[in-house]
Amino acid sequence: MHNKTISGFSKLSKSKKIDWIANTYFSNQDNAKTILKQYWNTDEKLQQLHDEFIENTISNYYLPLGVAPNFLVNGKMYAIPMAIEESSVVAAASKAAKFWLDRGGFKTTVISTTKIGQVHFMYKGDTAHLKSYFNTIKPQLLKAVSSITKNMEKRGGGILDIELRDKTADLANYFQLHVSFGTANAMGANFINSCLEQFAKTFKTEALNFKEFTPEEQHIEIVMSILSNYVPDCLVRAEVSCKVEELTESESISAQTFANKFVQAVNIAEIEPYRAVTHNKGIMNGIDAVVLATGNDFRAIEAGVHAYASKSGSYSSLSHAKIENDIFTFWMEIPLALGTVGGLTNLHPLVKLALEMLGKPSAEELMQIVAVAGLAQNFAAVRSLTTTGIQEGHMKMHLMNILNQFEANSEEKITLVNHFKTHAVSHSAVVEALEKLRQ
Ligand code: MEV
Repeated sequence: MHNKTISGFSKLSKSKKIDWIANTYFSNQDNAKTILKQYWNTDEKLQQLHDEFIENTISNYYLPLGVAPNFLVNGKMYAIPMAIEESSVVAAASKAAKFWLDRGGFKTTVISTTKIGQVHFMYKGDTAHLKSYFNTIKPQLLKAVSSITKNMEKRGGGILDIELRDKTADLANYFQLHVSFGTANAMGANFINSCLEQFAKTFKTEALNFKEFTPEEQHIEIVMSILSNYVPDCLVRAEVSCKVEELTESESISAQTFANKFVQAVNIAEIEPYRAVTHNKGIMNGIDAVVLATGNDFRAIEAGVHAYASKSGSYSSLSHAKIENDIFTFWMEIPLALGTVGGLTNLHPLVKLALEMLGKPSAEELMQIVAVAGLAQNFAAVRSLTTTGIQEGHMKMHLMNILNQFEANSEEKITLVNHFKTHAVSHSAVVEALEKLRQ
């Protein structure tokens, strides 16, 4: 066996795991151990809670939790919690919130909340027989999951439909049970997957008793049962609009010029995938930060959003902008399968706090808040890009990271933050100023 492999790692205690990692992969073992332990929480119960979220936990990985206040959404005020490592994102969100606060705020609507799951299976036989089997078995499929759906139905969710889909034109013998779900305030992954696995079981077993099938046709081969993170029918719209003349940006650019440049920038992102990916990344800066702070699955959200951005066959901007009758409108529709119950939401103390800060929203309300954070972020980024350029603001926010990298003390930080209020920030300029100060 290679000397850096181990069996039974998961069974070791936390400190034994750390010992093994430190001894095997670090030249300075004490230093590695110290860093890992520095991030342990002194509250043992809280630490244990975090240890048990995943497997083989050796420490905690911190991200800053920031707040972007002053968001007016459908007439209601929010301070939005954001967990993110990138400097300038929270500042940009706050700035955009303030800007639109004075111009009527954000308007949002939930368009739909349907989620999808599929049982993927192989069937070799007469498609008419399969269709007949599906129609016969459908009520039994629903009955088979009644113990799982009972609670969800009480909360307003459940199974909306089951379809048989013939995919044999794309892949030989391939069919699906394509199921749509409502999951109320839950993201619903466990609910959906449990239903699907039961459908698969019943669908396979009952086929053995279906008289119209030939003996060969009775053997349905289940490949897998899983929800889809593509949720084009779990959609929310967020919008801002105002008179063009109200878009006064700064003295250096007129409201009309700014509005035109902004729309041009969005038009470019609509037709140019290289730009669209970065444009949408800016939207996701806002979205992921709120998704993470509220204990939702940001990988699921990312996967679904980018798939939606390519729904026309070419990757495109998620947001759109127009000027009509001297009114500037900026909006997007975006798929967001979110939950405010279940998962981490009742477990992680900071997630609970974040949800409370938002007024304990329903899943639909959270969809709207998250979409707003994305649109605000996008507005801030495109506004900077089309006016001052992104680096001015970005480097100002990055200043503290550079100062920390060179271990500036509090006094040096105050002096240099002051100095760079009127000077352009660059890595070398900060180093130079710090060196001068220290002489
Ligand atoms: C940086 O994290 C995000 C931006 O690149 C987004 C954009 O270009 O629109 C500034």
